[in-house]
Amino acid sequence: MPERFKAPRGTFDVLPEQEPVRLRIHSASRRALEAAGYGRIETPVFEDTDLFARGVGESTDIVQKQMFTFTDQGGRSLTLRPEATASICRAYLEHGMQKRAQPVKLWTDGPFFRHERPQAGRYRQFTQIDAEAIGSDSPLVDAEMITLASDILTELGVPGVRLLLGSLGTPATRSAYLDELRDYLRSHEAELSEEVRDRIDANPLRAFDADHEGTRKVMADAPRLFDRLDPEDGAHFEQVREHLDRNGVAYELDPTLVRGLDYYTRTVFEFDCERLGAQSGIGGGGRYDGLIEQLGGQPTPGCGWALGVDRVALALDQQREEGERAEPARDGVFVVAGDDQRANALALVTELRRGGVPADLDLAGRGTKGQMKQADRVGAQFALILSDDGGATLRDMTSGEEREVDPSRVAEEIRS
Ligand code: HAM
Repeated sequence: MPERFKAPRGTFDVLPEQEPVRLRIHSASRRALEAAGYGRIETPVFEDTDLFARGVGESTDIVQKQMFTFTDQGGRSLTLRPEATASICRAYLEHGMQKRAQPVKLWTDGPFFRHERPQAGRYRQFTQIDAEAIGSDSPLVDAEMITLASDILTELGVPGVRLLLGSLGTPATRSAYLDELRDYLRSHEAELSEEVRDRIDANPLRAFDADHEGTRKVMADAPRLFDRLDPEDGAHFEQVREHLDRNGVAYELDPTLVRGLDYYTRTVFEFDCERLGAQSGIGGGGRYDGLIEQLGGQPTPGCGWALGVDRVALALDQQREEGERAEPARDGVFVVAGDDQRANALALVTELRRGGVPADLDLAGRGTKGQMKQADRVGAQFALILSDDGGATLRDMTSGEEREVDPSRVAEEIRS
């Protein structure tokens, strides 16, 4: 026997029974974003490789290790999009959106691709909902963005969500700060764990996350990036925080928040769901005031986020499994027909559907008993049993109550 195919490593199928929760995430997001003036944009799932190399950053893991890159028949290097921000900024420039009223607020959703090591919550094809506001450096934009994401997660009822907030300042501030931090760590080398000591050059920020007692003591007095921000960046961050406080959005300041993309300046944030274990990041974003210029445009500020739909769905599913599983609401009619009535059954189902009543029928040659079982299985609210004399019985599947009805008046009967 030939070997059967499986979905490629790191990808998965979404089956009908897994759809409702994802649909809920999409609908809640769309509603919130469109009510706040965000317009939907769709961009291609592949772009010039250079767009991501330049946009996301040559030195990031995403560009160095995780891109699905291929050469097309014309010899062009293309890459399946690993994220949306670079593509949306490209579209902003390509369509002259700097001439529209600023900021331009855009959102999108769809599949994204990163060649990561698959594990629970980490996939090679995953789904994001992404929002971007391009053309304003006001801290109101950062606060509006963060509030929207937070409200969407609250409305969905995602349990155990934490919002981590930080500010990176400018690239120059950051690199000066990292040098200062390295010097500080070197001056305390003897007190640090071996792991932290080995990574002073490569990743000094890691020291903030250490569990090691001595390291923790050293880090309590370590310089923090917040305290090294330029006065303007510091004031911007203060205002973002004040707006969030006024909106009642709770956050934890995280002096070590670094994101896996190079374009961030000033505000950065991440939403974590503690229930999810290792892959707990359910969304994140920040400001990217240098990106548009990097892509060949006039200097233009921007700010945005992306929510990980698959991880939010995992968190909601987990919660549902822990709690009571609610009986789904029954809906629609299942038409039960003997052999002589099958042709009438399809005509009747069609009429009901055209009239807006969800309706279904047996397509597998079941006997009457089997059809009643199927009516129950598909969650029909009523079974309509056609009899050979042209009459019909409407059975309420919950109460078992039955009454004779005229088959041509079923839609009205059900509505009443
Ligand atoms: P990101 O943090 O790389 O940011 O991704 C956002 C979210 O996408 C993550 O928090 C996570 O939930 C989900 N995600 C990322 N990679 C995977 C994966 N391999 N499997 C499953 N879920 C994943 C961005 O992509 C930025 N473009 C966000 C942004 C928009 N910043 C400014 N504007």
